[in-house]
Amino acid sequence: MILPIYTFGQPVLRKQAEEIDATYPELPQLIQNMWDTLAASEGIGLAAPQVGLPVRLVVIDLDVISEDFPEYKGHRKVYINPYIEEYDTTEQDVSEEGCLSLPGIHEPVKRPTRIRVTYQDEEFNEHDEWVEGYLARVMQHEFDHLDGKVFTDHLVGLRRQLVKRKLGDLLKGRFSCSYKVKSKR
Ligand code: NI
Repeated sequence: MILPIYTFGQPVLRKQAEEIDATYPELPQLIQNMWDTLAASEGIGLAAPQVGLPVRLVVIDLDVISEDFPEYKGHRKVYINPYIEEYDTTEQDVSEEGCLSLPGIHEPVKRPTRIRVTYQDEEFNEHDEWVEGYLARVMQHEFDHLDGKVFTDHLVGLRRQLVKRKLGDLLKGRFSCSYKVKSKR
């Protein structure tokens, strides 16, 4: 089932998300709904707060970009209770990001290229690994959502000033997108 995507201005996007365990109600169905929603909106990652639920659950599909990044062929993964434990700050890069919750906004964001993450997979097996490259960027973007952050929070200076107007338009409902949303108004 395709769920509406909560857009900027919805309070849930600013909440600290709670951990879940295997007893979370109808978890398999929720995960399937998140996959359906991600596919319908042609995104690569979706965090539960973006469908209105303040819980630490993320799905990432990098298979859709595997033509450009062959190393991600078949990468469709569920991340439960993920945390970024360490940032390797020796190298950072800048790349343009967008977000299903911020339709129409695309801005370059500077992030560390390598991080250590812990999480549980769909079967609640524990993982602790270093991740780099594009996946590390997508994880930082998605896991930020679980701490009430969106990618424009990382902008500084003039870019931050310029994006304020676009965010204001989002708050006023002045935007269009091809997928189902739940906006502030
Ligand atoms: Ni996002």
